[in-house]
Amino acid sequence: MRLDKIIKGGTVVTAEGQVKADVGISGEKIAAIGASLPTGDAKVIDARGHYVLPGVLDVHVHLELPFCGTTSSDDYRSGGRAGARGGVTTLIDFAIPYRKKNGKGYETLSEAADNWMKRAEGKALIDYTFHICVTNYDQHKDEIEGMVRRGFPTFKEFMIYESEGWQSDDRAIFGTLERMRDLDAMLLIHAESSRVLDELIARHHTSKLMKKYGARLHGMSRPNFIEAEAIQRATAWCEATGGQLYIVHMSTAEGTEIVRAAQDRGVPVIAETCAQYLVLDDSVFRGKDGHLFACCPQLKKPADQERLWQGLQSGEVSVVSTDTCSFTRKQKAMWKGDWTKIPMGMPGLETLMPVVYTHGVLGGRLTVEDMVAVLSTNPAKIMGLYPRKGAVQVGSDADLAIIHPKKATKVDWKKMETNTDWSPFQGWQLAGFARTTVSRGEVIVDDYKVVGKAGRGQWLPRRTAGLRL
Ligand code: URP
Ligand code: ZN
Ligand code: ZN
Repeated sequence: MRLDKIIKGGTVVTAEGQVKADVGISGEKIAAIGASLPTGDAKVIDARGHYVLPGVLDVHVHLELPFCGTTSSDDYRSGGRAGARGGVTTLIDFAIPYRKKNGKGYETLSEAADNWMKRAEGKALIDYTFHICVTNYDQHKDEIEGMVRRGFPTFKEFMIYESEGWQSDDRAIFGTLERMRDLDAMLLIHAESSRVLDELIARHHTSKLMKKYGARLHGMSRPNFIEAEAIQRATAWCEATGGQLYIVHMSTAEGTEIVRAAQDRGVPVIAETCAQYLVLDDSVFRGKDGHLFACCPQLKKPADQERLWQGLQSGEVSVVSTDTCSFTRKQKAMWKGDWTKIPMGMPGLETLMPVVYTHGVLGGRLTVEDMVAVLSTNPAKIMGLYPRKGAVQVGSDADLAIIHPKKATKVDWKKMETNTDWSPFQGWQLAGFARTTVSRGEVIVDDYKVVGKAGRGQWLPRRTAGLRL
C-alpha cells in the first residue's frame, strides 16, 4: 500500500489507550498504524512530542441560524475555520423548518434539509450533517421516515421557543419517540419546562427589577428545576415508548441525577453537556458584559459544573459539544436592558477541545483517553458515524488532530477564526489548540493556522443513530 502521508513519532490516543506509533494515510483514509512505518516518498508530518487524536466531532452547532430576531454570525465558512483550529473535523448543525411566509403551514423536513445544504455548499471546510428539527408535529410526523431514508436518523424537538414557532408539546415528544423506536433513529430534546418558565419570566419582567439586576435576571428566572422537570418528563416518555432519547446541552446536577437513575433502569437516554457549562457559572452575568453570556439553558453554579464533570467521568454524560450560536456585540446589544430580548447563544467551536483539554485533562478531571471518548468516539458512535469518524483505525477517514500536551496560548478573539468580536474565554490560557488538523487526509490546519480551502467539506449520510445502553 502506497502511503501519501505519514504522521511520525506522535503518541496516538484513542478512547481505549495510547501508543507511540506512526499513522500512514493513503488518499482520504488511514491505511497503516505502526512503529516506524517506512517513509518511502510519503510526505512526513512530524508529530514528535505531540498527541495524535481522532478529529473532534462537535455534534451541536448552529451556523447562520435565524433566531431571536437576527441571524447567528458564524456561517459555514467561519464556523468551519474556527472548528478546524480546535481540531474539529465534523460538525452537526440543526436543519429547522420555519413557518411559511404565506402563513400556510411549515416548510417540510426535506425543505429544511435542502435549505441547510445550501448554507454549507461551497463554504464548508470540514465535514457536516444535520439533525432534523420537528417544529410542527402534525405536519412533520409522516415525513420522519423519509428523512431517515435520506440519511438523517437524528431529529430534534424543542420544549421551549414558542415565539420562534419551534415548540413541541408532550404529545409530539411521545409520538416522535415511538417513531424513533420503530426506525432505529434518535430524538434530541432541548429540555426546559416552558409553562413554568414563562410564568417566572413574566414575574421577573418588570422595569424595577431590570434596572436593579440587568442580565442577572436571565439566570434568576431559570432555576435548575426548569431543566430538571423537563428532563424528567422527556425521560418518562422515553421509558414509556422505548424510543432513543438524547438530552442536549444538559446544564444541571439535578438533570444528571435524573439521567443516571433512568440509565440504571435501562432507559435508553443519553446526555450531552457543553464546554461552557463545565467551566463558566452564572457569576458572569454580574459583569458589564454579562448579557453576552446569555444562552438557553443559562450557565449554572459551580456545584453543577462539578456534577457534570463527574458525569463525564462515570459515563452518565457521554458527549461534550458547544451549542455554538455566535452573536456579535452589536447583535447582543439588541437587548437594550431587557434580558428577554438578548440573542441567545455563544461561540464555541474553536475552543471546545482547548477548554476540555485544559480544564479536563490538565485539570486532572479526565484522562486524555476520556477526552477522546467524549469529544470524538462517543459522538461518532451515538450519531451513526463510527468507525468512519471518531477512530484512529485502518479504514477510518484520516481525520486527525495533533496537539501539544502543554503549550498554552492566551485566548484573544482578535486572533480567532470565529466571527465575533468577543470570546467567553477572552484572556484565558488554554492548551489543546490543534497544531495540525487533518481532514480526510488533507492538512487543513498547519502550525496553528488554517490552510484548507472553503467548500471541501462533505455532507455525511448516516443510517442509524443511538447507542443502546
Ligand atoms: O442559547 C442557545 N442555546 N441558542 C441556540 C438554540 C438552542 O437552544 O440550542
Ligand atoms: Zn437548545
Ligand atoms: Zn442548540
